Amino acid sequence: MSTSPRHRCDVAAIEHETVPFTQAARGEKVERTPVWMMRQAGRHMKVYRDLVAKYPTFRERSEIPEAALEISLQPFRAYGVDGVILFSDILTPLPAMGVEFQISEGGAISIPPIRTEADLAKFKGKGEFDATTACPFVGEVLGKLREEVGNKATVLGFVGLPFTLASYLVEGKTGTTSGFAEVKKMREENPELLHGILSKLADNIGDYACYQVDQGAQVIQVFDSWAGHLPKDQYETFAMPYQKRVVEAIKAKHPTTPVIIYMAPDIHSKDGQFLDLLATTGVNCVSLDYTVDFADVRAKMPDHLALQGNLDPKLLRDGPLDKIKEETEKILQAGAHNGHVMNLGHGIEADTPEPHAKFFVDTVQGFRAK
Ligand code: CP3
Repeated sequence: MSTSPRHRCDVAAIEHETVPFTQAARGEKVERTPVWMMRQAGRHMKVYRDLVAKYPTFRERSEIPEAALEISLQPFRAYGVDGVILFSDILTPLPAMGVEFQISEGGAISIPPIRTEADLAKFKGKGEFDATTACPFVGEVLGKLREEVGNKATVLGFVGLPFTLASYLVEGKTGTTSGFAEVKKMREENPELLHGILSKLADNIGDYACYQVDQGAQVIQVFDSWAGHLPKDQYETFAMPYQKRVVEAIKAKHPTTPVIIYMAPDIHSKDGQFLDLLATTGVNCVSLDYTVDFADVRAKMPDHLALQGNLDPKLLRDGPLDKIKEETEKILQAGAHNGHVMNLGHGIEADTPEPHAKFFVDTVQGFRAK
């Protein structure tokens, strides 16, 4: 265990013992529901904003190991969350696949797009992308996180799934502002090219997720954030098969590592429209967005499937505290008889007051089901 003051963590201040996060994420009922928050490391915390002066760009904060380690630990130290997620991004492995990217402080992403067969040929695939050397800083941070949190929390790694990553590669930026216009054009005019991109991504991302487990990640969350804008038939053609390939690749090498899947609510995914399909991807746990009622979904899903979520991040931001408590306990009670990992239904809002986040974590950790 590292003893440098910079990295030492005040674990004594965190009173609870480890909860069986991995069991809960694998679908088993546990004594106390574990809790973490999507996007917990980041702008809503003052200690994070203070680090921006020292590490001005997102790429520095996520790729310089001491910065990424420090930021990953901030929510653990402040709130005692049961899950500590690597501070990184779904785009982080792209340079090792031959594609550079930039992220502005406003969150604008820019990437040289892949729009032709010649562009695809330059994009690294099997035999060219080596996950074991792609992002050494990620491996270093995951290993150190395990040392720092010991048995007080579970370390999560994560990856973006092929469709969501392909949307950035094809658009050259976020697709959310144009209705994913370039991806739509490619689906219609050159679906083979899109499948070529998705296929290389599936191989690379499967390997990269396994690398994260090898380096210390105990749970992997896979994000297909933007697949919910696809109509069902298109979703089944361009998103789902590649989700399955990544999950299968993880399970082939790491059969006991729990895998959690999340998709943002969008026109075709909100109100639980794709939950049946998400449940068949081979994951252990489906992360629910804030548009569904937890108890309704629990009643419809197979018992062995764990659920994660799903407090509305806007309620966490706006309060009041008694409403946060009421909604959180309602979800906890509905989840208590199967595997459940408490979380938000989307990333934490950047303007969430830190005492609200602390209150939420305390509420979950103090709750015992009836
Ligand atoms: O929000 C989701 O749907 C989750 C999946 C996702 C991540 N990154 C995971 C993540 C997506 C879609 C992205 C792309 C991305 N990366 C965006 C969205 C751009 C768009 O299309 O509109 C942005 C702004 C980034 C850059 C980025 N990533 C920043 C500025 C940060 C810092 C955290 C913050 O305050 O927002 C991240 C971190 C990040 N992205 C994490 C994850 C899982 C870090 C770990 C965590 O705390 O959860």
